[in-house]
Amino acid sequence: MIEDACQAHGAMWQGKRAGTWGDLGVFSFYPGKNLGCYGDGGAVCTRQPRFVKKMRILRNLGQEVKHNHEAIAYNSRLDTIQAAILRAKLKHLDEWNDARRQAALRYNSLLEGLPVKIPSEAKDSQSVYHLYVIEAENRDELVKALNDAGIGAQTHYPKPVHLQPCYRSLDIREGNLPAAERASKHVLSLPMYAEITQEQQAYIAEKLKEFFKK
Ligand SMILES: Cc1ncc(COP(=O)(O)O)c(C=O)c1O
Repeated sequence: MIEDACQAHGAMWQGKRAGTWGDLGVFSFYPGKNLGCYGDGGAVCTRQPRFVKKMRILRNLGQEVKHNHEAIAYNSRLDTIQAAILRAKLKHLDEWNDARRQAALRYNSLLEGLPVKIPSEAKDSQSVYHLYVIEAENRDELVKALNDAGIGAQTHYPKPVHLQPCYRSLDIREGNLPAAERASKHVLSLPMYAEITQEQQAYIAEKLKEFFKK
């Protein structure tokens, strides 16, 4: 099982961290992530030696021994400079995740009574709120109104994976995955990062209220 923990650095289920459940756990260090570097980066975690060996070969152009290419592979070595940045930032991850969780709780109470669906946490789980995703009718108009008010609301994501042109050959059509399709029409992400202030969140909630009053 390959676990996609790219948005879940530090998240927990039943007391165990995301990325440690599967045979392999994958993390993205894209700058916007809870643990982000200053360019592109990522990591794969595993406890199984056979996968460690394979991953090391795959990331290094298929070589285990220099100039001997065993597999057609990738150049996916994490730059040393990015690794140094990540090492410094890793120490703060728990603290930043706590700040995100606090911000999520504040949003939850600020948005009470509005016609939006707020995120909820499953039993025994602890989200790290890489995104704070709500659902609303008239999503596109709402995103525009928020953007016009200087708020960086975004849509994650407007087109579901099965309707992307690159998967056309799978012949999964519109209507086949209604939950994903519904979500793609109604979800929007409100600004979320460890440093977001109470004042900023109050301003965002005020603009949401104004939108729904109209
Ligand atoms: C859930 C998920 N998986 C995979 C990725 C891909 O990560 P990267 O852009 O570092 O390759 C992302 C990035 O946004 C993601 O959110």
